[in-house]
Amino acid sequence: MSTAVTGVKPTGTLHLGNYLGMIRPALALAARCDRSFYFIADYHALNTLRDAARLRELTLDVAASLLALGLDPERTTLYRQSDVPETFELATILAAVTPKGALNRAHAYKAAAAANEAAGRPADDGVNMGLFTYPVLMAADILQVEGDLVPVGRDQVQHVEIARDVADAFNAAFGATLGPPRAEVDPAVEVVPGLDGRKMSKSYGNTIPLFAGEEQRRRLVARIRTDSRAPAEPKDPDACLVFGLYRQFAPAAEREAMARRYREGGIGYAEAKACLATAVERALGPPGRRFQALRADEPGLHAILADGAARARHVARATLARVREAVGAGVRR
Ligand code: TRP
Repeated sequence: MSTAVTGVKPTGTLHLGNYLGMIRPALALAARCDRSFYFIADYHALNTLRDAARLRELTLDVAASLLALGLDPERTTLYRQSDVPETFELATILAAVTPKGALNRAHAYKAAAAANEAAGRPADDGVNMGLFTYPVLMAADILQVEGDLVPVGRDQVQHVEIARDVADAFNAAFGATLGPPRAEVDPAVEVVPGLDGRKMSKSYGNTIPLFAGEEQRRRLVARIRTDSRAPAEPKDPDACLVFGLYRQFAPAAEREAMARRYREGGIGYAEAKACLATAVERALGPPGRRFQALRADEPGLHAILADGAARARHVARATLARVREAVGAGVRR
């Protein structure tokens, strides 16, 4: 039996990078797995978000987005991390077997420390313990629902490896209790480039929102950086940001046809961008309209999340009981 688990951090408007890098492969994986637990990682978001109303809004945005993109809440348990308090008890226990050195090397923390040092500040300036222990909380998220496959973008692979090491450390200390998870990265999507060619990321301001209106999407696509080759000149499709996104959305035959026109010459960037906007609209226009309807029904979203939390807690409670027993904590009745 295979179990997929992943979290989406509600820190901003979802964009094509989130969708292609993580959400789309995660939804495809859920369809192939026996069980799947997908949640909104609101306590992970707390490390950077200091606005209760905004956190609540973004949490519902993520829930409605996943549903709009096809997550079936009957098959996939969809919940909000903070609704499953077992997570945080397990995180405390796992912290006891997590080497601090592993967290020193974890990439989210390391990136923050490196940015501080580059700016001449003390390494831990503005770094909270939530950021530092981020991978421990992730390990609890994963291990409590016995997740073995964790669909994530490239940037989260190391965190999943830490979760596996934490499970191994726990098992070495207390006997085989927790299953080892592994990261699943979509090989077709290494890094999704943004408008300027750097990784698409909110912090670079180079994103295309997932559910942008058709008009806004066309405007953003028009801003994608290209070189100055004329339409008639041959071009390498694999070196072009526009084609890089187009290939993710277009059916194989159309993708091949455009790649050929790039190589032979005869397609200009304006035309390629128009094709890209159309392909994205075809893929994401209908989910965008479903998103609006789902998002407008907050009681409906709350009901789905409450049901998901109850199902996740059922599994988490069983894991926690085994873990508490293994370490010698009090037995609950
Ligand atoms: N850290 C992930 C991110 O930033 C979100 C996340 C939280 C997660 N807990 C998780 C992903 C557990 C996979 C499994 O994108």
